[in-house]
Amino acid sequence: MAVIIDGKAVSAAVRTEIRQEAAAIAAQGRAPSLAVIIVGEDPASKVYVRNKHKACAECGITSFQHELPADTTQEQLLALIEQLNADPAVDGILCQLPLPGHLDEQAVIDAIAPDKDVDAFHPQNTGRIMTGDYAFLPCTPAGIMELLRRYEIPVAGKRAVVIGRSNIVGKPMALLLINASATVTVCNSQTPELAAVTRQADLLVAAVGRPDFVTADMVRPGAVVIDVGINRREDGTLCGDVRFDEVAPIASHITPVPGGVGPMTITMLLKNTLTAARKHMR
Ligand code: GUN
Repeated sequence: MAVIIDGKAVSAAVRTEIRQEAAAIAAQGRAPSLAVIIVGEDPASKVYVRNKHKACAECGITSFQHELPADTTQEQLLALIEQLNADPAVDGILCQLPLPGHLDEQAVIDAIAPDKDVDAFHPQNTGRIMTGDYAFLPCTPAGIMELLRRYEIPVAGKRAVVIGRSNIVGKPMALLLINASATVTVCNSQTPELAAVTRQADLLVAAVGRPDFVTADMVRPGAVVIDVGINRREDGTLCGDVRFDEVAPIASHITPVPGGVGPMTITMLLKNTLTAARKHMR
């Protein structure tokens, strides 16, 4: 039976460090601050945004909430971002994705000042992730790397397979693993003979966004399995991308859903907010 990687516990430990550092920054002027923008009523996004505010409050980070109606225009959204870019009281800016269909997500990402881009989605920051010389960590992949470090799971020299090639998770995850000297294969749901590829993995990262997608026959016995999915089954129950019940008995380590990768993503966002605040102190 696999070791269950406890993202909540690791997250709590890192947040203790963040709280101390936020207090140290506050003592030198003002507390670190994060502006969060949400457009429309997507229920999952509302839960994520609420969790981000709660996490900020817990750690002594000021958070400003900007809730905009679903019919907000591109011009209105860009005007708000301009205002936040120019506001010296704001260290970090995050616009919750996905945006309603009539809005241009890439244009919004491009508009956020790179030194306030705590998601690390701006092309200037994604480019820096590629070269390994980055200011802001991409939150979900960085949270996964932190879990691997804290559980002393080696990455260098290992075969890693990432399922999913999104800009938010799959692609930056592959880059961080490459930077850490893993041999990385990036798959997607159309990869031919996917199971044969995933069975090669010492480290398997599932970020496809499909409930129960990874089955035991896709996993090499003794592999480390990281589940990034947060999905709902048709009966409404929450699940990851991995069939935990069948994969846990053969894996060496596995992250549960919930309580694995999820809590770490927000923790890394808080860390990026401290980085932004430190930049703005100078
Ligand atoms: N939607 C899902 N994950 C994220 C994230 O990490 N940041 C933002 N801004 N939107 C998201």
